[in-house]
Amino acid sequence: MRKYSKVRYYAILVVKEVLEEGRWANKLLTYYSFKLKPDEVPFLSILVNGTVKYKLFSDWVLKNYIKSEKFEKLTPWIRTVLRMGVYQIYFLHKVPDYAAVGESVELAKRFGHRGTAGLVNAVLKNIARERPWPEEVWIRHSHPLWLYDLLRETFGNGKALRIMEHNNKPPEIFVRVNTLKIERERFENLLTEMGVKFRRFPFPPVTYHLEKLPHLVGLSEEFYYVQDLSSQVIPYLLDPEGRILDMAGAPGGKISHVYQLNPDVFAVSVELHLSRAKEMKRLSERLGAGVYVINGDSTYISFRSGFDRILLDAPCSGLGTLRRHAELRWRMRPERITELVEIQKKLLKNAVTLLKPGGVLLYSTCTITREENEGVVNWFLENFKDFRLERAEDFIPVEFTDRGFIFVDGTNYGSDFSFGARFRRG
Ligand SMILES: C[S@@+](CC[C@H](N)C(=O)[O-])C[C@H]1O[C@@H](n2cnc3c(N)ncnc32)[C@H](O)[C@@H]1O
Repeated sequence: MRKYSKVRYYAILVVKEVLEEGRWANKLLTYYSFKLKPDEVPFLSILVNGTVKYKLFSDWVLKNYIKSEKFEKLTPWIRTVLRMGVYQIYFLHKVPDYAAVGESVELAKRFGHRGTAGLVNAVLKNIARERPWPEEVWIRHSHPLWLYDLLRETFGNGKALRIMEHNNKPPEIFVRVNTLKIERERFENLLTEMGVKFRRFPFPPVTYHLEKLPHLVGLSEEFYYVQDLSSQVIPYLLDPEGRILDMAGAPGGKISHVYQLNPDVFAVSVELHLSRAKEMKRLSERLGAGVYVINGDSTYISFRSGFDRILLDAPCSGLGTLRRHAELRWRMRPERITELVEIQKKLLKNAVTLLKPGGVLLYSTCTITREENEGVVNWFLENFKDFRLERAEDFIPVEFTDRGFIFVDGTNYGSDFSFGARFRRG
């Protein structure tokens, strides 16, 4: 008879694919969540996100007990069982040590043999008893050194620490009510009937924080879109009207919100990757948002007539979303940030050819690097003298702004971070 829980078994399958094979956690989590009872899903998410985020920390702990060469020679399955065991011992205070060790040993039998189970048992028991802690701050908070340095340079030591703590917590659930299909009051009544606790934000007025994922309680998907608070702030800086172009569209969260704010707009959204363009089309249909989706490359796309508003929600390093994307800290590299800045500049250069005189260009990202945010803004203003910055404070509440830009500080809301700059031509 099986002596390990189904949730831990699925967690091993997911974490091994993410850490050892380069797959993304969120898609796998959605897939496996349908194989579990709704009340088991949060624990799967905690185990997966936590084990992936604390990889550097747990490898440091494990290498106190297993020589590096031997650790690297273990099968990916057993490395994963050990990493998940360490995560539970240190960070899941509701899981007693004997359960963390016992279940890991059973999983080691399932994915290995008696010998590996013996190793897992001995190593995890010693760790639970001795609990060594690394001195280095970045290892304690399990962030790569280059990223810790970047956070300190950008925000100073104290804030860098708070951001790392924030990144290591489980992501919160934010949704946008789709007022194209349901009124807020009826939406709130439905949530109450389904027993989902919620909190509504004063701004954005369509934003809710939920206690449970809405698809798990059976709420119809046309009524909402799961979207971080930081993303929901951006469309308000565009104050949408007329002909609107979205240059980097998928999955379509912001452009469908733009349409929701003003259904009289003519909205076109361009996405480079065909599968993502299809995904965006499906989302627009689901939400009833009239958005024309084009599969194309916005670095050189052209149109017969110009646009009144352009949204460039640029491809970026995503370093403001580390709480939600557990594996990203291990995938992003400083060299990639430099490449992304070049892509952002190319997209902006083409935006200039597509915007009408007097039109508005909104540049946004979900990252915290100065290079991709203020750096790109300064480059743009130096190179395109007929554009000027308009202050974000004139369009959205001041708590979501910083020195004329949108700056959603995720540590204040349990959300991601976002950045936005509004340029007016002429
Ligand atoms: C940050 S995401 C956009 C998120 C989207 N605005 C939303 O709110 O749902 C950036 C998107 O731009 C796409 N992209 C990257 N380079 C592009 C290009 N040259 N032309 C069009 N889309 C591009 C990426 O595939 C990705 O889907």
